[in-house]
This record gives sequence, C-alpha cells and structure tokens, in this order.
Amino acid sequence: MKHIYIDHAATTPIHEEVQQAMTEAMKTQFGNPSSIHQFGRESRKQLDDARTTIAKSIHADFPSIIFTSGGTEANNLAIFGTAYAYQEQGKHIITTQIEHHAVLHPCEELEENGFEVSYLPVDETGRISVTDLKNALRDDTILVTVMMVNNETGIRQPIEEIGQELKDHQSIFHTDAVQALGVEAIDVEALQVDLLSASSHKIYGPKGIGFLYKREDIHLKQLVYGGEQERKWRSGTENTLSIVGFKRAIELVLGEREQRLSHYRLLSKTLLEELTQQGVDFSVNGNEPYRTPNILNISFPGTDVEMFLTNLDLSGIAVSSGSACTAGSIDPSHVLKAMYGSDDERLRNSIRFSFGMDNTEEEMKLVAERIKSIVDRLTNL
Ligand SMILES: Cc1ncc(COP(=O)(O)O)c(C=O)c1O
Repeated sequence: MKHIYIDHAATTPIHEEVQQAMTEAMKTQFGNPSSIHQFGRESRKQLDDARTTIAKSIHADFPSIIFTSGGTEANNLAIFGTAYAYQEQGKHIITTQIEHHAVLHPCEELEENGFEVSYLPVDETGRISVTDLKNALRDDTILVTVMMVNNETGIRQPIEEIGQELKDHQSIFHTDAVQALGVEAIDVEALQVDLLSASSHKIYGPKGIGFLYKREDIHLKQLVYGGEQERKWRSGTENTLSIVGFKRAIELVLGEREQRLSHYRLLSKTLLEELTQQGVDFSVNGNEPYRTPNILNISFPGTDVEMFLTNLDLSGIAVSSGSACTAGSIDPSHVLKAMYGSDDERLRNSIRFSFGMDNTEEEMKLVAERIKSIVDRLTNL
C-alpha cells in the first residue's frame, strides 16, 4: 500500500539539502560559539551567518533575531516577556479565539496573574474584524497578539491593517507567524509588527529551533536566565547545528516559494476536483481568497473525525484534524467552534489536509478514491 503524508502543517520532513548542511556542520564544527579560541570562532561565524540570512529574509536587522527552541518558546517569550516588562503601563492584552495553544495558554496563565485578556471572535470565514480590534483597544492595552496564518484552516489574518491601526498606540504588536513562514513573503517593516514568532520544522528544517523577531527598541522580561547568549534575551548555548539547518531551509524557501505555492494550489485544486468527481459530500472550512494554498480544512457531513482519521491511517493516509488530542481522543476544534458556534457538526467531522513539495496530483486522486470508500462506509453505519 502506498503511504501518503499530507500533514505538513504538523511538521515537514527535513529537506535533503538541510540534512547535508547539518551533517557537514556536525562533522566540522563543534565549538561553543561563546568560546574565544578558533573552534569557538568558527561556530560563531556560522551562527552569525545564519542570523544574517534569517534576519534578511524577513527584512529585519541582525540583532533583532533571538533564537529559541521553536515557535512555542518564541510565543511564550513574546507574551510573558511583554506582559511583565510593560505591566506598569497597563494589564490589558488582546488576542483572538483562534490562536494556537502556544498563545492561548500563556494568555490564560496571565489571566491567573492579574492580567485581563480580550479574545476577539472570528466570522464564518475564519477572520477577525479590525473594527472589533479597534473597539477592544484601551488606554491600558499593552499587547496585541494575532496569528498571521491559522494552523487549522490556513486562513490569513489582517496583520497589515492591525499594524496600521496600532501605529499610534502604546500597545506592542506580536504575530505568531509559524504557519506563515515559507508561504508568505514576510516583511516586518511593512507589517509594522514589533514581535514575530517562527519555527523551523514547518519549512523542511529540523525540529526544536525557531526564533523571535524583536524590534530593537522593545524591551522584554527574559524567561531563561544564565549566560550572555542571544544578548541575554534567551540564555543557553545556542543550538548551532539546528540553526545551520534552519538557515538552509530558509534559503531554499527564498529561492522556491512561488514554485512551492503554485504546486500547493494545483494539489488543492486537484483534491477538491477529485472529491467532487467521486461524488463525495464535503464543504471547505475557511473561505478563499484568504486561505493559504498549503492548508485545506474539509468537513465531511455524516462522519466522525476520530473514526475518519483512524480509517485514513489504516488506508495509508496521514492527515490530522488540526486540533488537540487529549488522552487519546480529539477535542472539538476551538478554531471551528469560534467560526461556527459550539453546536455545529463541522466541529466533529472536519479534517485538515496540509500539502508538501513531494505530494503529487496522482496522490490526490488516490486520496480522493480512498476517502470516497471511507465516507461511504462511515455514512452507511
Ligand atoms: C500557529 C502555530 N504556532 C505555534 C506552533 C508551535 O511551534 P513549535 O512546534 O515550533 O513549538 C505551531 C505548531 O504547530 C503552530 O502551528
């Protein structure tokens, strides 16, 4: 049986060229970049080169990149770091109901500690409204954190408009760009964001490495204390090997983004056409034109997500619901709940397909055929 992986929003394989760069670095570099001898200096050079490439890729300056262990840590540093550094100016934070848990849970933790958080709703298309944001803004708002692309639906949020809106407000603007890196051309200046989180393992880089972009004049309360690394914003010997891999993954994206995007568009179109041709009943969650082409969230009426995923797995197809799994069962998606309300059956019958560079049109045809037989089975129970 042919196994087909369509869960790239969860994680991607490591690109061959990333593997090569990391293997080479593993063989030739082991110095601690903080050491002053030659071994250290060589590692420092690799670290500096990576920081330069990564900063340039989002139109930022070299010192604005703080390497972290991934998107989760970058979000935690942005949120706790801002809240505790600016609490004298207010204790109000604005976020959305559809953020990743790496944003929602830090916000909930801050609520336990005397901060007030407003969670903006979304409409059926999966987008927040800038008017709602304007209405929620207060004199004591110190942080607005809104994700760039939603990990379950692929829907883009109006980041440029929010940046514009906050231009003359004291609030710091953070965006979780974990699902946007690689699909969006990110320019932190044009977006007017102060903080931006990113992760390597969604763009064919290694796991356990990411960064927080921090505009020079923003101050954060650090979370990790220790040495002088990352200009003390995040102490700890840098993960140079993974940083080298992350750099290569970013270089590859920069050279191939348009190609990758048109491939994802083709896959998405093929899958939808094949499902229609097979006579499968479905609807897409999250509307065009705001959907990124690599994520497609589809509801299959009359099915149940857990049974569906198990059947797909048994038939060799790796996808996910996009929402959290607690004690072996899938929680109804908080993102779809925000879009449709808690009683809608789409919360319990939706699947996230997320495409990668190696997926083919042929695979999409096979997937549609296998889905057809599973849906027939599940709906005839
Ligand atoms: C939108 C979003 N934010 C944050 C994260 C967490 O990133 P990491 O896995 O690097 O900790 C993810 C991962 O799925 C994500 O999709």
